[in-house]
Amino acid sequence: MIIAVDGPSGSGKSSTARGVATRLGLRFLDTGATYRAVTWSAVEHGLDLDDTAAVAQRARDLRLEISTDPGHQFVIADGADVTTAIREPRISEVVSKIATNLDVRKELIRRQRAIIDNAQPSGGIVVEGRDIATVVATDAELKVLLTADQEARMARRGAEVSSLTAEQLRDQIIRRDADDSTVSEFQVASDGAVTIDSTYMTLEEVIDVISRLAKE
Ligand code: ADP
Ligand code: CDP
Repeated sequence: MIIAVDGPSGSGKSSTARGVATRLGLRFLDTGATYRAVTWSAVEHGLDLDDTAAVAQRARDLRLEISTDPGHQFVIADGADVTTAIREPRISEVVSKIATNLDVRKELIRRQRAIIDNAQPSGGIVVEGRDIATVVATDAELKVLLTADQEARMARRGAEVSSLTAEQLRDQIIRRDADDSTVSEFQVASDGAVTIDSTYMTLEEVIDVISRLAKE
């Protein structure tokens, strides 16, 4: 069983996918965290982020351990616990640049597919990201495209990261939407995908709908 949840920043992918995995007793994979971990490592190594070959090599060399337990999430990169560090604004500001590096994508998609395969004996996995239904797991039994309007997504991020100014928030959501929109496989309603607009729904309501669809 594979459930794919795709959508833009702040649409609720992580919290919804984690909630569905907990409710249905499945594993959970946050693919955005893999792009964030490579970004963190490239920054820590002082790489020029425009040097696509060096950044891709870093992605291939990185030792990455990512938890698939929905109740206990952590990310270990080259032995360092980066669970919190990969969420810092300095990483969010540049992660889309790293994600447009096609050799980075190739390497991370390979790793994501291995994690998905490993989860199958334990019943399956809920995978969230941008290109899960279109690229990473095109054979997913359930494909959800989660959306919410920009104002709602900014308000959610604002409630979460109180240290960001309104201007920084707008920049992170609007600029990242623009950066991410350059990748053609992102956020397109793939064959058989169900679109859920969460703008006026609570987190619990979205989890209910997806869990019900998964049982059909
Ligand atoms: P994404 O992974 O798409 O960036 P998150 O799951 O991190 O989004 O959600 C961003 C914030 O919005 C979190 O604080 C989360 O609790 C909240 N949230 C998620 N879904 C909803 C919803 N339907 N209604 C209100 N808040 C939500
Ligand atoms: O939580 P949020 O939506 O803000 O971001 P994320 O899911 O942690 O993803 C961070 C970035 O990684 C995104 O803005 C994309 O640029 C990239 N990403 C990607 O390219 N492919 C994925 N499957 C997931 C994330």
